[in-house]
Amino acid sequence: MRLTILAAAVFGLFLALAVLLPLYYGGADTDRIWTDEEIRRMQNLRLSDYGVAAKNVSNELLYNRDAIELGERLFSDVGLSASGRVACATCHQPEYGYQDVNLATFRLDPSAPHRAPGLLGAALQDWFFWDGRADSLWSQSLASIENPSEHATSRLQAVKHMCAQYASAFPALLAPCRQVDLTNTPLHASPLTAKENWRKLSAAQQEGINKLFVKLGKSIAAFEAGLMPATSRFDLYVDAIATKNYARAATILNEKETAGLKLFLDAKVGCINCHYGAMFSNSGFFAIGSDDPNKPMRDRLNGVKLLLDSEFNCLNWNAPENCPKTLYVKQEGADLKGAYKTPSLRNLRYARAFMHDGRYKTLEEVIEHYQNPNILPPRHIDIRPAGLLPHQRKQLLSFLNTLGEEAPSEEIK
Ligand code: HEC
Ligand code: HEC
Repeated sequence: MRLTILAAAVFGLFLALAVLLPLYYGGADTDRIWTDEEIRRMQNLRLSDYGVAAKNVSNELLYNRDAIELGERLFSDVGLSASGRVACATCHQPEYGYQDVNLATFRLDPSAPHRAPGLLGAALQDWFFWDGRADSLWSQSLASIENPSEHATSRLQAVKHMCAQYASAFPALLAPCRQVDLTNTPLHASPLTAKENWRKLSAAQQEGINKLFVKLGKSIAAFEAGLMPATSRFDLYVDAIATKNYARAATILNEKETAGLKLFLDAKVGCINCHYGAMFSNSGFFAIGSDDPNKPMRDRLNGVKLLLDSEFNCLNWNAPENCPKTLYVKQEGADLKGAYKTPSLRNLRYARAFMHDGRYKTLEEVIEHYQNPNILPPRHIDIRPAGLLPHQRKQLLSFLNTLGEEAPSEEIK
């Protein structure tokens, strides 16, 4: 009898070990894929508390419901363009992560020096445009309206259009429309694009128009501030790893994608040195040999001059102590030459061209660039060859594709 009990106990123990040990070691094995440091790095890249308000200190309309709604309508309003055919949404298509899926920028102006980035999470940046020549989201949109390659209109036309179309729907927000007399003014006037007409306006008219123009920009920015990336497969994976749910993690990213993530986090490969934070961007400007040194530079060195000359920069509309990044901005140095803003790597799925000038059409080409950066002629450069084997380049590419949201079913228009 005792023997039977002993045998049963030994058998039971064996059974328990047979079931539990592989589970334990299986779990531990998955655990060991990642070091603590790698997990820390992953968590840094996880979509998190956005800090939109902290980045948009100069926009008091940020959470104003009327402004957000007006901004959304203005974003798709072709009436803000001289031709009556161009809206922000022409180049930043809402259904496609606000990317320029049709490369409308280059269709409208084949010599445009920069490609249009997507706008999800744009409000989290310190600087806008590839050269960072705008220090706020609101001043950025004003530049689009008076840019001859974009809306190609003047602030007077834009303000008149906004007041005529929207003042009755947003009486409180647009009350200043009634306070400035714009009767008998020409169609266009602007100190940038229609200088003669601008000079003929009274000082009170100029000031009134500028204030309304700023309100237009702040409303569009209030709308844009709500455009945030959706949780990607990568974020779900980080959640699963952080909660030690390895079985779930393995269903979210496959082996190839996980291997790509490992390469991405590896300081020797280098991506993480610049593409970190929830948007995969350190908000800085770097020279990675992605330009043509023989062409006129539209880089950070040039951008910082444009920023300081801009009538809508932070310093011209706020007390200097509220504009430290502009006040103390680095203006000179070999490191600013050929330098462009580190872009976000989220939601590149609809990007039809890459880098500031759209020189590459595929992510494969981008990875090839990092493999063999163009370092001639000798000049300041912030990257060294990534040193990836062919299969590793594919892994990295697979990983980059986990940073988007799921595709809508319809075809790209
Ligand atoms: C003709 C195409 C076109 C139109 C129209 C257009 N954009 Fe853009 N947008 C671009 C291009 C190109 C860039 C990059 C330009 C540069 O960096 O010099 C850009 C940059 C931006 C950026 C900066 C993003 C970043 O990460 O730095 C924002 C924000 C933006 N546009 C919003 C708007 C808004 C708002 C409007 C409407 C008022 C608008 N755009 C109209 C093509 C366009
Ligand atoms: C020294 C900083 C730095 C490092 C390191 C770096 N990048 Fe970049 N990355 C940039 C900058 C700056 C740009 C934009 C350059 C331009 O527009 O000409 C960029 C652009 C990109 C783009 C194009 C995005 C777009 O919207 O056009 C991708 C993709 C990218 N990097 C991925 C990577 C990967 C993968 C690695 C690692 C192999 C890496 N980067 C390493 C700074 C860096």
